[in-house]
Amino acid sequence: MKYAIVGTGARHAMFRRAVTETYEATNKLVGLCDSNQGRLALSAGKVPDPGGNGIATYQAEQFDDMLREQQPDKVVVTVPDYLHHEYIVRAMRAGCDVVTEKPMTTDLSRLKAILDAQEETGKSVTVTFNYRYTPARTQLKDLLQSGAIGDITAVDFRWYLDRVHGADYFRRWHRYKEKSGGLLVHKSTHHFDLLNWWIGSSPVAVSANGKRAFYTPEMAEELGLSAHGERCHGCPVSNKCDFFMDLETDGPLKELYLDVEENDGYLRDQCVFADDITIEDTMQVGVKYANEVSLNYTLCAYSPWEGLEVKFHGTKGELTHRHVEVHGVFGGKRERPQDDAMTTELHQAGKAPEKIDVWAGHGDHGGADPVMLGYLFDAETVGPDPYKRGSSHVDGAWSILTGIAANQSMATGQTVMIDELLSANGIKLPRS
Ligand SMILES: NC(=O)c1ccc[n+]([C@@H]2O[C@H](COP(=O)([O-])OP(=O)(O)OC[C@H]3O[C@@H](n4cnc5c(N)ncnc54)[C@H](O)[C@@H]3O)[C@@H](O)[C@H]2O)c1
Repeated sequence: MKYAIVGTGARHAMFRRAVTETYEATNKLVGLCDSNQGRLALSAGKVPDPGGNGIATYQAEQFDDMLREQQPDKVVVTVPDYLHHEYIVRAMRAGCDVVTEKPMTTDLSRLKAILDAQEETGKSVTVTFNYRYTPARTQLKDLLQSGAIGDITAVDFRWYLDRVHGADYFRRWHRYKEKSGGLLVHKSTHHFDLLNWWIGSSPVAVSANGKRAFYTPEMAEELGLSAHGERCHGCPVSNKCDFFMDLETDGPLKELYLDVEENDGYLRDQCVFADDITIEDTMQVGVKYANEVSLNYTLCAYSPWEGLEVKFHGTKGELTHRHVEVHGVFGGKRERPQDDAMTTELHQAGKAPEKIDVWAGHGDHGGADPVMLGYLFDAETVGPDPYKRGSSHVDGAWSILTGIAANQSMATGQTVMIDELLSANGIKLPRS
């Protein structure tokens, strides 16, 4: 299989290594494309090159030339979220299948462009929902589909981002709603996808509240940081700021961003307390699903610890899963548990609660990424997936619709009916 990658920033390296190193026997990288010449060259320099000819690289405006000259079978899209649709659509129209990072896109007009192009071309779009592949979360699917708690009736789901990881969404393009869709699209696409998959349904009605409560100019003042600069690099108050990101001393970040920023003005370390941020950091969403399951969801981006808690209520009992990814942030340092601290408890009505041995894995995102890469790049060896974790454009669409509707609900104060949203925008989507 021949691959090209567009967007050679932080995330693309996982895909590049999978194609050129882990699964190189059956795959070939034929081109790299980016708008930043420096990041493009950096990535090209890391591609194993036994023939000595180097990998073909293309500037953003040469993307179509890359497809014509290199004839990839699949294009991997790892540009910022608001640009996904441009490359997904152009790749499909050039006859390529697409593997795209999440979220598939950020708003309804971009979603329509992707769905229309997919329908016209018949090409496939795979959205890389790695969270489905975390063994502990696959196990929840296994327990739920085995009927352990009977019919699922309601879910409580809370996701906490700590003050290192959470803060990072307020430093660069993610912090503008038009570029990321806000955290209810950018981040929660993972969570709403898990929910759609776990409960086997899709959202019909969404209401939400949200605000920016912590990453604000007022908080900078309260913390004695009101003299902060536009960015961390050279900031006059960096020595007393817990949110200081030191690009100069972090080798990988320095070469990927600081050393090449004169090419495009992309500042990786903008101040998290800036006035022009347009996304929320505190969000609560209520969802009703087509199969009558109801959901209470919370996302907080400045918690003192990082992890998740989910409780499924069912006609025969309850299933509860908790994952402490980071115990706490102390003076900018993140204290991780020795092993990922995950617990799952099954409490069937009339019986004592039962601790379940949690399925374990190794690698990034709780062991998810290596499993997903096997299915993506070596499907014949790993065989069919009993949990149907591969995600199409339809899954990608449903996973962002909850967040898009929640954004509308936050703006209007009204409950948003998804079918009305879709028909008002000329979008037809099958329900699972
Ligand atoms: N699934 C996950 O767990 C996960 C984790 C991290 C990131 N991601 C996703 O991966 C994607 C990339 O994130 P990232 O952190 O690597 O971002 P990044 O900003 O580090 O990289 C984006 C790259 O796209 C390039 N780019 C910008 N505009 C372009 C254009 N018009 N044409 C071509 N290239 C352009 C930039 O120069 C940069 O090299 C995002 O969609 C993000 O949501 C997913």
